[in-house]
Amino acid sequence: KDQYYVIGQPIGHSMSPTMHNEWFGSNHISGQYSAKEVGITELKSVMTEFRSTVKGFNVTAPLKVEIMQYLDEIDPLAKAIGAVNTVINKNGKLYGKNTDGIGYCRGLSYVLKNPIEDEKILIIGAGGAARAILYSLLHLGVKHITVTNRTLEKAEDLLDGKLMNEVNIMSISDAEEHLGHFSLIIQTTSVGMKPNENSTPLALTNLSPDAIVSDLIYSPFKTVFLKEAEERNATIQNGLPMFIYQGALAFQEWTGIFPNTIDAYSLLERKLG
Ligand code: ATR
Repeated sequence: KDQYYVIGQPIGHSMSPTMHNEWFGSNHISGQYSAKEVGITELKSVMTEFRSTVKGFNVTAPLKVEIMQYLDEIDPLAKAIGAVNTVINKNGKLYGKNTDGIGYCRGLSYVLKNPIEDEKILIIGAGGAARAILYSLLHLGVKHITVTNRTLEKAEDLLDGKLMNEVNIMSISDAEEHLGHFSLIIQTTSVGMKPNENSTPLALTNLSPDAIVSDLIYSPFKTVFLKEAEERNATIQNGLPMFIYQGALAFQEWTGIFPNTIDAYSLLERKLG
């Protein structure tokens, strides 16, 4: 069987092996996907090994930036994001891609009624996940994007000294005040996850009931932020579609086949929901 991995630390709770092995099975492809605990200090030796033994792998925290120095080629979107989550091994050459942000956008198909270009988007947060989504939205030609973050300077850093005409930056309090203006709100911070599972990053008082509120977290399956949005009659989505679509796009890179995301959703919802 061809070998595939997800590497990171910690890695014990990763749902990627369950999902990818289901896809290898249902597509009758001889592949085995495993989770391997790898820290930054072991990455170099693992890469030497993987180069000759592994067909492809996913990369998660804390290795998404660190991995880049070991790759032979990195695609332009992954370069703009500054992180790689998917590696393809072609005859000993390692190609890096980032499927997180495009995966996020594809996952919106569950809830989006209009083309994504029509949405007025608010991204909450300015970490790695926000960066992947922002640059993927721009890559897809989306305009009307605003970023808000507890630390305003970090939101500005996302723009890399350019993009000032394309992307707005707002303080959290301004975003709260003008929240009714946004049709798609994307929560990318760790607020809502343990140990901050009872907090939200932003007050939803002025939320439009026509808005879609999306949170990248899926454990807890429904964050307090999503519960509050639901109480205000907004459409909500958790992070599971993003997780499934980033994986599906990686699977497609490795095998040429785009796998069944609906079955994967049912499988993972049963395990996590
Ligand atoms: P990731 O790569 O998962 O996006 P990260 O790079 O550590 O994680 O980014 C964390 C994001 O969550 C940041 O936007 C951070 O805000 P700051 O830039 O102000 O630090 C946000 N965040 C984390 N804890 C937070 C908290 N308690 N309240 C508000 N924002 C928080």
